[in-house]
Amino acid sequence: MPRLPLAPNDLCGCGNGKRYADCHMRVHAAVPDQRIAVAQAMYAEEWASNAEHYRQQGIYADLAAELVSAGRVRRVLDIGCGQGEGICALRELIPPKGRLIIGVDENPECLAAAAARLGMNVDDAHLRRTTFEILPSGAYRLRATGDNLPTAKDVTLLNVDLMLKDKVFEAWLDDIGPLDAVTLWFSGIHKARAETELAQANKISNDRLHRECLEDIVIQLAGQRLRQGGFLHIVVRGAGTDLEALRNDFGAEFYNALDAHPLEIVNVNGRRYTEPEAGNAVVVTSKTVPTGAATAAFSLLARRY
Ligand SMILES: C[S@@+](CC[C@H](N)C(=O)[O-])C[C@H]1O[C@@H](n2cnc3c(N)ncnc32)[C@H](O)[C@@H]1O
Repeated sequence: MPRLPLAPNDLCGCGNGKRYADCHMRVHAAVPDQRIAVAQAMYAEEWASNAEHYRQQGIYADLAAELVSAGRVRRVLDIGCGQGEGICALRELIPPKGRLIIGVDENPECLAAAAARLGMNVDDAHLRRTTFEILPSGAYRLRATGDNLPTAKDVTLLNVDLMLKDKVFEAWLDDIGPLDAVTLWFSGIHKARAETELAQANKISNDRLHRECLEDIVIQLAGQRLRQGGFLHIVVRGAGTDLEALRNDFGAEFYNALDAHPLEIVNVNGRRYTEPEAGNAVVVTSKTVPTGAATAAFSLLARRY
């Protein structure tokens, strides 16, 4: 069943048309061993426009309130934390006693921006744990490195690519123990992702497949690492003329995705929001979305039973 009625864009995140071509040209102009870093820096710059626009509309504050009001939430793993707007909103609402917010992201540039936003000094080794080698095919083989992870504290930021095997991170999470919440707020990835071995081997050729693959990994992780009664909170952007129908599709999609996992849906919400109109933002777009369609952020709240 298709997840949302959006035609998938190429694994790029910048929609179709001229901007798509411009983005790819900039990434491909980079020498091969700089290409991923260039794409990550571009993504961080673009997403900053989105996140600031969403923050000004109160979306992060709303999402944090939805999660924190659902039950006892102190220990949160925020996957794909981006530039920390979500962590900031959570930190505002979660009382300091027992608070543990872990933000992980595959993009060191996003993490560095998150560290600045949160007023944290983070060891560069923890922001840049993912290395690569270029295979004879030209594909990038990514690998998680770095054995010494920080002691988890109030807020901890870490470079983790959830699509890579990362035994050190898994052992670190084992030591931390059960979590109250796992969040995945909005999905997206930089423009060189299609050139990685993991995207090619798993036939992840567009944004939607990348999102679904990450969601499946996150659902699995949530089933294993949430305490009983803990929450999984996934937020997805959608666009269309009938937002109630989209919300229902989104709920049905996740009902299927949670099947065989110890997670039950608590609720599915949709909130209207606007995308930034100007600049380099990563805009929800697709050939099948009619002009004038509204955009909404759909949130799934599920409970570990
Ligand atoms: C659309 S941004 C959302 C950022 C943040 N959650 C927010 O709401 O502002 C998606 C983030 O997920 C990260 N990401 C994508 N795939 C990932 C993966 N496999 N592992 C970890 N992070 C990933 C990207 O680098 C990006 O920062």
